[in-house]
Amino acid sequence: MTDDPLLIHRPHFAILEQTNYLISNSLGAVPREAALALAEFYEIWASRGVRAWEEGWWELVETTGDLVAPLIAAGPGQVVFQPCVTIAHAVVLSVFEPSAGRSRLVIDEGHFPSILYLVGEQARRGFEVVVIPGRSDGSFDLDRFLAAIDGRTAAALACHVQFRSSEIVDVAAIARQARACGAYSIIDGYQAVGSIPVDVGRLGIDVYIGGCLKWLCGGPGNAFVWVAPERLMELRPALTGWMAHRRPFAFERTLDRRDGAGRLLHGTPNIAALYAARPALERIAGIGLDAIRAKSLRQTGHLLALADARGWPTPTPRDPDRRGGTVALGVPNGLPVSRALKARDILCDYRPGVGIRLSPHFYNRDDELDAAIGAIDEILSTQSWRDHIARDSPVT
Ligand SMILES: Cc1ncc(COP(=O)(O)O)c(C=O)c1O
Repeated sequence: MTDDPLLIHRPHFAILEQTNYLISNSLGAVPREAALALAEFYEIWASRGVRAWEEGWWELVETTGDLVAPLIAAGPGQVVFQPCVTIAHAVVLSVFEPSAGRSRLVIDEGHFPSILYLVGEQARRGFEVVVIPGRSDGSFDLDRFLAAIDGRTAAALACHVQFRSSEIVDVAAIARQARACGAYSIIDGYQAVGSIPVDVGRLGIDVYIGGCLKWLCGGPGNAFVWVAPERLMELRPALTGWMAHRRPFAFERTLDRRDGAGRLLHGTPNIAALYAARPALERIAGIGLDAIRAKSLRQTGHLLALADARGWPTPTPRDPDRRGGTVALGVPNGLPVSRALKARDILCDYRPGVGIRLSPHFYNRDDELDAAIGAIDEILSTQSWRDHIARDSPVT
């Protein structure tokens, strides 16, 4: 579509010159300005040395959080960075102690495995971990999930957008039920922020966690956490450290915890990663999530129509209100087909159970979607996927 106004951003992403980049659900493309930001990081390190901490580095986890805040309709000072989404969950989970009567953690089995592993390990701390199966078609079973949240529940954990199917989960309903039962809702928005508009206040959730690696095009080492302001002062994470202290450079023996979102911090952050994330955050805020969402719905709708024409099954919802930014395609021999696509510089991934995931973002052209589907047609008809069956890499 030549009159797509978002394509004005395309020249800022170098990788789009050589590849058909349809994998922003995994690693968003990096904008060229990130190179300048990383060079700036080096210059400051080289010229200011240790003084950089008092000249902005120490607060960078919070000032960069202020660039994320508008993307989730949070206020300034309410978002802080974390090294990864799993650690952000670990910090929040370390708040809870199993107590008689309230020792349940409720999570759905379609949650990202890293979080399932972390929550599963909480059983060693005395929690009862309740894992809710999905429906037979793999979709999120909201009724069953809500029914599992009761007065025995400490926290309910769910993804805003499911990583396999890209189904949008009704996290507002989960938040309501959790609050009604005196439990916390902890929502993983990693597959949501940057792809769909998010309003944490309107959703009524307690804790929202996300990251910049994927749809926010900010690279690794850049997760973040937001806590509802009315909940924040209740939180005293056991996974803590000197950055959570009011006077970290007084080196006192005991923790005097900060009041704001800084109370969720712990040790020295990865400053280079934070520099890398900033240009894309500014660009995406400038574009606006409504425009990104409108384009995403058009492109994912087009992919679904192409899949339907070929009879490929998909777990991705047809209903635009329930569909995130990815379309998963149950293409036959999906794993070797996805590798054959990669060999043709068409980047996507494959997940067992759902198939090939294609994730157009604001910088993709419509013809790239047709090209990807056309390439799948050809790989299937020529059976060239057979050349890609054996592979030793753990990353598919
Ligand atoms: C929904 C979701 N949650 C969590 C993770 C894991 O995040 P991290 O590696 O930052 O801990 C992923 C990774 O893809 C994810 O998609």
